[in-house]
Amino acid sequence: MPQLHPDLPRAEFQALGREVIDLIAEYFATIESEPAFPGCKPAEVAALFDAPVPERGEPASAILADWRDRIIPNSSRQGSPRWFGFVNGSGSQIGSLADALASTLNPNCGGWRASPAATEIERETVRWLAELIGYPVDCGGVFLSGGTMANVAALRTALVDRAGWDIANDGLQSRGGKGPLTVYMADHETHVSFVRAVDLLGLGRNALRAVRSNNDFTIDLEALERKIDEDIAAGMQPFCIVGHVGSINVGAIDDIAALADIAQRRKLWLHLDGACGALAGMLPELRERLAAMSRADSVSFDAHKWLGVPYEAGCLLVRDIEAMRRTYNMQATYLLPAKDNEYSGDNFFDYGPQLSRGWRALKVWMTLRYYGAEGMRTFFRQTMACATRLHELVAESDDFEVVQPAPELYIYSFRYAPKALRGDDAKLDEINQFISDELQRRLIAFAMTTRIRGRVTQRLSICSHRTTLRDIEETFEAMREIGRGAA
Ligand SMILES: Cc1ncc(COP(=O)(O)O)c(C=O)c1O
Repeated sequence: MPQLHPDLPRAEFQALGREVIDLIAEYFATIESEPAFPGCKPAEVAALFDAPVPERGEPASAILADWRDRIIPNSSRQGSPRWFGFVNGSGSQIGSLADALASTLNPNCGGWRASPAATEIERETVRWLAELIGYPVDCGGVFLSGGTMANVAALRTALVDRAGWDIANDGLQSRGGKGPLTVYMADHETHVSFVRAVDLLGLGRNALRAVRSNNDFTIDLEALERKIDEDIAAGMQPFCIVGHVGSINVGAIDDIAALADIAQRRKLWLHLDGACGALAGMLPELRERLAAMSRADSVSFDAHKWLGVPYEAGCLLVRDIEAMRRTYNMQATYLLPAKDNEYSGDNFFDYGPQLSRGWRALKVWMTLRYYGAEGMRTFFRQTMACATRLHELVAESDDFEVVQPAPELYIYSFRYAPKALRGDDAKLDEINQFISDELQRRLIAFAMTTRIRGRVTQRLSICSHRTTLRDIEETFEAMREIGRGAA
């Protein structure tokens, strides 16, 4: 009887592995010289990957050749020093290797018995991260795909904890005789992940209550309290406030201590979306500002953003581990022994929405050990210095205008607005989009636009450990030149 998946003899596997590591090394060696965005078009790439299902196996060499010939030339290099798109981390080399090791062992990190060491490494990593950002180390924590799922998982925990009836069993249908459950956050930077959260949780998009933001894009605290009062008067049932620690467009950090006071007084759950910025709690210079993070009921952040760990590595910390367990606890005869025995460890399927889970923690654990907290702090400061330099260039230039008071972290938005065109917002919107598109077309850098207070704005996320001040200066100069050509 033929064997389905015969493993390669060791020497052959090693040779194949060396080929793969050569491809990985080549990628890292050329990441600074190759363009961040490949300049390929959707239909061209789609046409390259339109083959029929392979009926027979192919030699590994043919598959690897495609990495070089078809995949790399049509891939964005998010680790490039000139990749400023979305909020993408640059990926650590040790993290790539960790992924290979993680998939080799291939533990299912849902159940302890499938993943004894992997489970404990996840718990240790969660503890380290909590300690590093100043969150209680006895919190619950779990790695998820990203900030979106961490926000979904946080809101679910908040619902179960604060709805006021047995939501785990009765769901939202019963309503406990009460009005619609509502969540509050700043209007300007309401991240789309919360739209996903209220969609998935069945709360409906009207449950998201956008609160006026201040000039610096932080939530207006008086407006927040007013809105909550109005909603209660209208029969709604507020259950959660969301604060930002590093918002998507400008890296805004809400007044966390004030939010914690309001949440405590009103018995609402406080969730901090720190996808972009909670890790700033690692910096002594920001510790005081972020000290109140420790008072939040939950904090989410992405190790695949600022920490530079390869995708996917979102993380959710919940102060009360029991609230997490109450929300996610799984009982099934096929998951657990009939009675606890000496091998009954803590199962991560009790702490988050996933049952089967990959070993995300390994790459975070290895990256943290490899660089150490001090190495990460150096990197954070380097990206913040780049954002500050960009702000200086913008502030000094007559061609651009400052949009945010100053960079808080590593995300920075600004606008091309030469004096002669100020006031002609339609034209400026057009030129700003053109600048961003043209940077891509000319393969200079990859940056994106957003809209701030309704106007098209340049937005750079400087999240690569490879980005230098020179990259910033040259990119800025190119933007100015493109803008002048278009004005
Ligand atoms: C503030 C904020 N929250 C949540 C997210 C969602 O994170 P992810 O893309 O990892 O799901 C992002 C992503 O950029 C973000 O900036």
